[in-house]
Amino acid sequence: MTRLTAWTDRPPVAVALDAPDAATAVDWARAVAPHVAVLKIGLELFYRSGPAVVEAIRALPEAAGVEIFLDLKLHDIPNTVAGGVASAARLGPRFLTVHAAGGTAMMRAAADAAAAVDPGLEITGVTVLTSLESADLDAIGLVGPPAEAVRRLALLAVHAGARALVCSPKEVSKVRAEVGPDVTLITPGIRPAGSQADDQARVAPPEQAISDGADLLVVGRPITRAADPGAAAAAIATLCSDH
Ligand code: C5P
Repeated sequence: MTRLTAWTDRPPVAVALDAPDAATAVDWARAVAPHVAVLKIGLELFYRSGPAVVEAIRALPEAAGVEIFLDLKLHDIPNTVAGGVASAARLGPRFLTVHAAGGTAMMRAAADAAAAVDPGLEITGVTVLTSLESADLDAIGLVGPPAEAVRRLALLAVHAGARALVCSPKEVSKVRAEVGPDVTLITPGIRPAGSQADDQARVAPPEQAISDGADLLVVGRPITRAADPGAAAAAIATLCSDH
């Protein structure tokens, strides 16, 4: 059953606008925005084009009513992260990511800074990147397996004030059982049946992620590398809604 999120009646899809330049991102945003709830701006685009690209996307008529997800994956000492959150919050995103591995004090500083600027902003804890597998966690020295590390980091983030979490679709049902119904669960690593995994290791199809308890699916290359990104977004949105 689709969990209808309280903040939108649009299909629960966030398109990752991982474009090399602002013009491409704006073109993609124009094509996909009518079909989805959220547009996600990450490192590649933000480092190149900065706040201006967020404002350009927000100003698109097609993007009216669409939320912005700033996937900046902050990870630094608490004071620096709080300052980063305060600056990013001025752009009005609904979601802003912070690595839960930065620890409790850092997550709490992020949550407090967000609440001070915009009570609607959901600090979103990144648990374990969906590109990492058990061997990678061993190499980093992070106690695994991934499902256990995700559980630990999810609880840390939520107890420190995160209102949303990023986890892989493989772990979403376990995380939901741990954190309850009120935390927004966001899953990248979404691949429709038959599409290529790229660099993602822990993947699942959209309808599976939704039925396992995800609130919002992050989809990048399956949409943005399609010949017709708007049609690809609409098709994935339909898979979510039909479920
Ligand atoms: O192209 P693809 O669908 O793999 O894009 C997934 C998006 O989700 C990328 O923008 C990536 O940075 C982001 N992401 C992720 N894993 C996380 C957090 C974010 O893949 N744990």
